[in-house]
Amino acid sequence: MSSELTVIVLAAGGGTRMKSKTMKVLHPIAGRSMIGHVLTAAQALEPRRVVAVVGHQREAVSAHIHENFPDVVLAVQEEQLGTGHAVRMAVEAAGQLSGTVLVAYGDTPMLQGETLRSFAAEHEAAQCAVSILSGIVDDPCGYGRVLRNTEGDVEAIVEEKDATPEQREVCEINSGILAFDAAFLAGALPRIGNDNANGEFYLTDAIAIARADGLTVGAYPADDVTQTEGVNDRVQLARMGAEVNRRIVEGWMREGVTVMDPATTWVDADVVLAADVTILPGTQLLGTTVVAEDAVVGPDTTLKDCEIGAGARVVRTHGELAVIGADAQVGPYSYLRPGTILGAAGKIGGFVETKNARIGDGAKVPHLSYVGDAEIGEGTNIGAGTIFANYDGVNKHRTKVGRHARTASNNTFVAPLEIGDGAATGAGAVVRQDVPPGALAVSSGPQRNLEEWALRKRAGTAQAEAAELALGDGRSAPDDVAES
Ligand code: UD1
Ligand code: CA
Repeated sequence: MSSELTVIVLAAGGGTRMKSKTMKVLHPIAGRSMIGHVLTAAQALEPRRVVAVVGHQREAVSAHIHENFPDVVLAVQEEQLGTGHAVRMAVEAAGQLSGTVLVAYGDTPMLQGETLRSFAAEHEAAQCAVSILSGIVDDPCGYGRVLRNTEGDVEAIVEEKDATPEQREVCEINSGILAFDAAFLAGALPRIGNDNANGEFYLTDAIAIARADGLTVGAYPADDVTQTEGVNDRVQLARMGAEVNRRIVEGWMREGVTVMDPATTWVDADVVLAADVTILPGTQLLGTTVVAEDAVVGPDTTLKDCEIGAGARVVRTHGELAVIGADAQVGPYSYLRPGTILGAAGKIGGFVETKNARIGDGAKVPHLSYVGDAEIGEGTNIGAGTIFANYDGVNKHRTKVGRHARTASNNTFVAPLEIGDGAATGAGAVVRQDVPPGALAVSSGPQRNLEEWALRKRAGTAQAEAAELALGDGRSAPDDVAES
């Protein structure tokens, strides 16, 4: 392929049918903006430059592109006067061009780099002035039609609105993706007029211009025309999102991932899965989540930007920016907030919420707890129903629990706090002061039983009756009753 390749991505149009305050090309599919998909495909060709044409909401679109694709050159089209005008703005922004120029649209999220690559290669091999990535479709409605002469040579593209009834019968459409010889493009752009039904400068008029100059024009039907389909409204957004997801999930299955129910499994474009991962129904793997081999995720689990170690088990969990060690167990019903790091073979159990918490290898928080701003050493067990009270109403503070500690049920750890290696706590303790290594911290006083309290204070209730029955003859005489 030509060493000199420029890709122009048009994204100035408004996308009014989305009825959204968010610009159309910024809507995500599989965790990536639509234009992000197209720019990713473009960059796969390692072109000399990529130019994006922005117009509508150009601050938002420019900022998004600048942040995620810093090498992309931005061209501004103030008014959307047509695709020919948009490309002209791109060429002006890019400066002197040579070699091949590919034009694509920013709203075609399924486009793959490989499709662009083989199209550009065909265009260059045939030494065309301009080539069309066409498509043979059942319903050509709305598309520009590729017109060929009796020899089958391409003569022009006619837009639907300008087409005769006979031309509308043509089922070979312009996908919108065109390849140009840069020198031809530079000469043709100023010759494109706007004398048509839309009063727009049609880039597609370049085909007839090339023919008039006696130059070669090619049209190559795409193998997979759905890759060039655009999204115009939210119905298409959902349909395309499902199709992109279907392809991603199928791709992972072909790489050795077991997916029990592809229809309820959602995997973003930037997720990475190892072979022999198993995904159970109702699972969403989002953002840059990475799952190592033999891990089992799901059912009903959402993980965003998480890292799951080999052989880990994550059940009915919601996690974000969390790291789960190898062979660790999480869930069911766990909520992992950012900064959760669980060591190898560790456990975060049912109804446990964690945040900014480093839980060591083999350490366990098995039941009904909140662990915030904490460090828990290896091999430590945190009792059921423990709250790491990290917030004093003004500031957040940290709690550190050492290695192989055993803390009891229903504890409150009031931060800032340090519980030493091998320390223990009593049930129901409210721990406000540091516990030295090996010490047992108890905070509730000795238990007192007020004998037959229910008989006196709850007389006539089922409670008193039950107590009376249980005590039977063992009841003390009324004058024995004393509040000790
Ligand atoms: C265009 C093609 C048509 C093709 C169809 C495929 C032309 C004249 N027609 O028609 O042959 O079958 O795409 O979908 O090219 N844009 C700008 N600036 C503008 C106008 C458009 O950036 O001034 C961008 C839009 O944001 C959009 C793309 O170019 O991403 C296509 O524009 P649109 O107006 O939708 O063209 P179609 O009528 O669909
Ligand atoms: Ca369109």
